[in-house]
Amino acid sequence: MPIFDHPFDPATETALVTGAGNGIGRAIAQALVGEGVRTVFADINAETVESAIKSSANPALATAWVGDLAERSECDRLLADARTSLGLITHFVHSAAPPRREADHALAVTDDTWMRMRAVNVDAGFHLGREISRALIAAKVPGSMLYLTSLHAETPRNLPHYSTSKAALAMMVKEFAKTLGRYRIRVNALVPGAIAAGGFVADPTLARHIPLGRLGRSDDLAPLALAVLSNRISGYVTGVAIVIDGGISLTNWFEAPNLDA
Ligand SMILES: NC(=O)c1ccc[n+]([C@@H]2O[C@H](COP(=O)([O-])OP(=O)(O)OC[C@H]3O[C@@H](n4cnc5c(N)ncnc54)[C@H](O)[C@@H]3O)[C@@H](O)[C@H]2O)c1
Repeated sequence: MPIFDHPFDPATETALVTGAGNGIGRAIAQALVGEGVRTVFADINAETVESAIKSSANPALATAWVGDLAERSECDRLLADARTSLGLITHFVHSAAPPRREADHALAVTDDTWMRMRAVNVDAGFHLGREISRALIAAKVPGSMLYLTSLHAETPRNLPHYSTSKAALAMMVKEFAKTLGRYRIRVNALVPGAIAAGGFVADPTLARHIPLGRLGRSDDLAPLALAVLSNRISGYVTGVAIVIDGGISLTNWFEAPNLDA
């Protein structure tokens, strides 16, 4: 059978995608249902999550879930609801992240914004990933998880709450991968560059710093995301960070923050 014809087994494999209402999470969730995978689209925004499902290739395979993943009780409700609609969750994508605002530099960011970023990115990412893994281990079924990190896990973004949470996620991927590999659960990071997807409002002139000559699109990420999630294609890949950035990491393009803004 050609390798790329059936990356997933729709009879046994299912997916939960956070941040599925917009941008990269939306593109990945839509691509998963396009491959016949029953998928929960989770997001805080009911309107965008419904429209993501409606415009997907196969809305019948998608389930909407709306809630605030900054809350532990909501994460638990998501797990319970996803198990009701999917049974065992075999694939998990954590793309949800609170909005990034340029004004939130180190001298300005509030405690609330700091804690919310950590709660959604790191705390929810850890709790959901661990609970999904525990269920896979109990069922003796392999799985895979993908975390959206950032180039700013390693270089400052002038948004300390964001970059530190992505740095934490990058290490969490490695911790999970090391511990869970023995259970055939693979855990990887997808590292986008400048993707004009909604969460990042880019100055179009940024394109001149990108070797491939343009900003990225969410659809640039979905095919590789699916390839890394697929146990058939990437069954021996775990604990790595896969960069999709048109080459922007070869340039250094962020000025220091404007403290007067
Ligand atoms: N766009 C980029 O250039 C870029 C670059 C590097 C990393 N990333 C990462 O990729 C991921 C997707 O980013 P994006 O720009 O495509 O989209 P985005 O930031 O618009 O999407 C994030 C989604 O998460 C949802 N969300 C926010 N807070 C939530 C909460 N408390 N509970 C549940 N859902 C919540 C939002 O409603 C939104 O639909 C993020 O984790 C982001 O940090 C993006």
